[in-house]
Amino acid sequence: MRLPLIFFGLLTASLASLGGAARSPKRGLAFVPNESYPNDNAIWVRPNGGLTWYYNFQSNVSVAYASLPQTTIEFVPTMWGAGGGSGNDPSFLDGIVTATTTKGRNISHVLTFNSPDKSFADGGSDMSPATAAAVWASNILPLREKHGVKVGLPTVEDPHDWLDSFLKSCARINDGKECGFDFVPVYSHGDLSVLKGRVDAFATAYPTSPIWVMGYGFENQDLPTTQAFFNSSVAYLDAHQKVERYSWFGAFRSIVSSSAVGPSQAMLDPWGNLTDIGSWYLGGGATGNPPPCAGGGKTSGAAGSLVVERTMVPPAATRNIGSADR
Ligand SMILES: *[C@@H]1O[C@H](CO)[C@@H](O)[C@H](O)[C@H]1NC(C)=O
Ligand SMILES: *[C@@H]1O[C@H](CO)[C@@H](O)[C@H](O)[C@H]1NC(C)=O
Ligand SMILES: *[C@@H]1O[C@H](CO)[C@@H](O)[C@H](O)[C@H]1NC(C)=O
Ligand SMILES: *[C@@H]1O[C@H](CO)[C@@H](O)[C@H](O)[C@H]1NC(C)=O
Ligand SMILES: *[C@@H]1O[C@H](CO)[C@@H](O)[C@H](O)[C@H]1NC(C)=O
Repeated sequence: MRLPLIFFGLLTASLASLGGAARSPKRGLAFVPNESYPNDNAIWVRPNGGLTWYYNFQSNVSVAYASLPQTTIEFVPTMWGAGGGSGNDPSFLDGIVTATTTKGRNISHVLTFNSPDKSFADGGSDMSPATAAAVWASNILPLREKHGVKVGLPTVEDPHDWLDSFLKSCARINDGKECGFDFVPVYSHGDLSVLKGRVDAFATAYPTSPIWVMGYGFENQDLPTTQAFFNSSVAYLDAHQKVERYSWFGAFRSIVSSSAVGPSQAMLDPWGNLTDIGSWYLGGGATGNPPPCAGGGKTSGAAGSLVVERTMVPPAATRNIGSADR
């Protein structure tokens, strides 16, 4: 029996929408560019590339994406820490207001303190709840209340310890009124049960706020384990009604992966081609480009004279960000 042509049309359409379904509006980019590989930057922002937002651990846009409007990919600034100040410095607030009012960059969400409950040595922003509250009051509170920007809670280990004292201190400064927030960023470094446990713990503590899962992964696993985790974690995060956004760590070549992460999580191979995970994250199919160090041993570079060693020294910047996230 010959199938009518229209059947093939429908089949193609449904396959195309299957491909589309692999994308998710929740997906974003933890952008950690390497200046040795400027051409890699364009990979994450190709038209229909599937990523809707990015952050870079900084208050200002990344130079590589400075010309992209918020409607192409939404930049979410981060107020990483106190910048050595104790609360009176409003430069973060001023920068966001200036970007929005005079530079045509309509900032709608900001991230706040990165692991203030951890020391600088551990990659944290090392702030007492009282200092953090003072910094919040002079920068974040006006952004939210006067400028309608949605703000994320500081990103910490435990949903209560540090955050409870922070929110208490903040309310004290704010004439007894609660310091509001609009979403709760959560980090996770572990398998699916770790990820679910962290999402559940924060969702229970802040039942009315959406959750953002930031730069997550299951570090230092072999490639099959990492790929299986990737698949099950994105399915879980996409289906979870309270998870509003998430970002996979990360967007770098497997040769510059932080030692804290290992090569399997890399979305680019040593030559800058998308790995399977990189392509899946952008809504594409498998590429068959594995991070060659994952299997062990050496790989001689086909591109240029690159030789990939099993023992990779993590570059300082990536190492800091990898641990800063914890
Ligand atoms: C932010 O980045 C833009 C684009 O690279 C640059 O023009 C501007 O001077 C930067 N602003 C600050 C405060 O660093
Ligand atoms: C700014 O962004 C918000 C959130 O995306 C949107 O509701 C608002 O209309 C935008 N404003 C301008 C002036 O583009
Ligand atoms: C992960 O999902 C892709 C399709 O998106 C599939 O091709 C692959 O076999 C899956 N891998 C594992 C380990 O589940
Ligand atoms: C990998 O990247 C190189 C250099 O950008 C390119 O020439 C090559 O075709 C790519 N290979 C694959 C399999 O995508
Ligand atoms: C960038 O990549 C080069 C070459 O792989 C590496 O030596 C360097 O440490 C990387 N820099 C950063 C900041 O990751």
